[in-house]
Amino acid sequence: MLLKKLTEACGAPGQEGEVRDLIRSEIEPYVDEIRTDALGNLIAVKNPSAAGPKVMLAAHMDEVALMILGIEKNGYLRFRPIGGIDPRVLVAKTVLIGEKKIPGVIGSKPIHLQKPEERQRPMGIDELLIDIGAKNQDEAEKLVKLGDCAYFATKYEEFGQDKVKAKALDDRVGCALLIEILKENYEFPLYGVFTVQEEVGLRGAGVAAYQVQPDVALVLEGTTASDVPGTGTHLHATSVGKGPALTVMDRTVIPHPSLVRELIDLAEQHSIPYQIRRTNTGGTDAGQIQLTAGGTKAAVIAVPCRYIHSAASVMSKQDFESALKLAKTYLLSLHEREGKQ
Ligand code: CO
Repeated sequence: MLLKKLTEACGAPGQEGEVRDLIRSEIEPYVDEIRTDALGNLIAVKNPSAAGPKVMLAAHMDEVALMILGIEKNGYLRFRPIGGIDPRVLVAKTVLIGEKKIPGVIGSKPIHLQKPEERQRPMGIDELLIDIGAKNQDEAEKLVKLGDCAYFATKYEEFGQDKVKAKALDDRVGCALLIEILKENYEFPLYGVFTVQEEVGLRGAGVAAYQVQPDVALVLEGTTASDVPGTGTHLHATSVGKGPALTVMDRTVIPHPSLVRELIDLAEQHSIPYQIRRTNTGGTDAGQIQLTAGGTKAAVIAVPCRYIHSAASVMSKQDFESALKLAKTYLLSLHEREGKQ
């Protein structure tokens, strides 16, 4: 199953190779051209010489991870997060490290040994170590190199009503949408771009957009759902199960208002559920794509995901299907408009 394969693959920012190889093998039969650029963005093209508009769809391949930056004498590993990870979600999680997927567990001082004041506060990154079962530094160095990354060892599972739990739904859900979209045929040039290094500041997307110079771009994302314990409904950025979220503003982009309007009109005409993302925090590749070269009309379609950037996030399969339908309906509307001209 596509989303299972994608979320169980590992790809820290700058180390997207495994995810890229998987995506490449999935889309190769459906595209006319495919290449990897200097940063590692995977750029697939359908109908490169057709008449415009030139459309770019983007999803990022990377996920938040932990980079190994120290190996202690006793064989424990020290690490730093790459991308936004709350240290409080790390304690006692199992991980897989590097290309060989060496198993480990994120250890800390057990509660029995903690001083009363230590029990009152969360463990910081410097108080956590990864235990790979090595008896000393020499043994650990045979398994892990500095610069390797550790990933949550989470298996994809379907559960409850129509829900999925997995690691890295941000943004393998966007990758899965884009793969599905590339399986269809279109009459205009369509660039499917799987970007790198989004989680460390949208670094791949601008470089890719400069090469493509699209007329219009849609970013496909997994976004924060805040229908979680401890938040009032007025703080709900998005809710799982209420359809794909459209961004009107985040920290990096104000999507093109007429493009957002078109997406809303199409959703309403075709009875596709949708919601407006009600927060201005977070960022997406759209922030870089719209500013690259002469500028591009851009918008974001996102699948709401609870507990994003943790060992297990949760999404609705129905939201995925609705996001896919909305994106395809938009692309079909471009066909029809082109035909009328
Ligand atoms: Co993302």
